[in-house]
Amino acid sequence: MKRLVLRRSGLDGLVLETAPIPTIGRHDLLVRMTAASLNRRDLLIVRGEYGSFPLPLVPVSDGVGKVVAAGSAVTRFAIGDRASPAYVPDWVAGAPRDDLVRRRLGGPLDGVLSEYVLVNEHAAVRPPVHLDDVQAATLPIAGVTAFHVLFADGRIVPGDVVVVRGTGGVATMATLLARQAGARVIALSRSRPKLHRMLALGAHEAIDVSEEPAWDARVRELTGGAGAELVIDLVGGQDVDRCVAACRIGGAVALVGFAAGTVAPVDLVAAMRRMVVLRGVSVGSRASYEGLVRAMEHGRLVPVVDAVHPWTDAAAALATMDRDEHLGKIALSFAR
Ligand SMILES: NC(=O)c1ccc[n+]([C@@H]2O[C@H](COP(=O)([O-])OP(=O)(O)OC[C@H]3O[C@@H](n4cnc5c(N)ncnc54)[C@H](OP(=O)(O)O)[C@@H]3O)[C@@H](O)[C@H]2O)c1
Repeated sequence: MKRLVLRRSGLDGLVLETAPIPTIGRHDLLVRMTAASLNRRDLLIVRGEYGSFPLPLVPVSDGVGKVVAAGSAVTRFAIGDRASPAYVPDWVAGAPRDDLVRRRLGGPLDGVLSEYVLVNEHAAVRPPVHLDDVQAATLPIAGVTAFHVLFADGRIVPGDVVVVRGTGGVATMATLLARQAGARVIALSRSRPKLHRMLALGAHEAIDVSEEPAWDARVRELTGGAGAELVIDLVGGQDVDRCVAACRIGGAVALVGFAAGTVAPVDLVAAMRRMVVLRGVSVGSRASYEGLVRAMEHGRLVPVVDAVHPWTDAAAALATMDRDEHLGKIALSFAR
């Protein structure tokens, strides 16, 4: 089989190699990959800017494929089924634990940029039946994170106000899911054209943060002074304080992304007075993935795929992430 291996840090360190098809164990599925999708993490790992993972490494965590062989003890899947590996394979359900969240696909574990991938049956999920493989491949990180933030960590109910700061994969999935749940979604972006697309996707209001840098005041204005139940922050940096200020009393900020910086000054007194919960997020469990699939099938929700590249062009596809021109997900196809 062919696979893309990161031999040294840098986009030019990705090398297409031939390797033996892996041998299956009793509980393993051998999955022939059909599609994958990219996350910001993949770009940072390839560049060597996201911790230090031992190389060589097969990068990229998110994908979908078809089960072509199954170990003798496998009961959850059959040959011919579609399967998607969970990004955090050991976190099946419940609260996170250190020992359950260490192993992650695409670093430190080998990821999915490989024609065949071994997946333990307990770390695999059936993708939504109404989605094609490329659409389904966008879910393991972005979709699961959005679902987890809204419904596992968060308890969003109809009428709640959800602010979504950013327009990538998590933001677009969160908008679809929050809207389906009856929440009112306020989308934030630096780009007016992207905001038009977020409104078309289902956001109720949009704020162009390049025109309204004091966007927290605008959120309060739009909510009659109350603020939002939940701010999903996909950007980080200096404006985390505005996320706190945009919350209603007792609201929460989901700290998900850090594209604008990993360090943020926070007015602790404002956070305390307003009893705002600052909650770090790191994707979610297999149970959240399964909850996401159920929610998407119920509403026939379709993730936003901005572009599809051949999987062997992963380096060029990763390079496009930096331009921040995309809305939703960048995907890879294994179509032969
Ligand atoms: N903690 C977790 O579990 C988890 C899971 C998934 C992703 N993430 C992180 O969450 C973030 C979003 O990921 P994603 O895949 O959904 O989206 P993405 O494709 O990484 O896009 C992030 C968005 O952030 C905005 N942005 C980027 N750089 C910015 C800057 N310097 N200043 C202000 N805004 C900026 C852009 O929105 P506009 O162009 O519209 O302004 C961009 O669309 C990333 O940092 C990613 O690493 C974390």
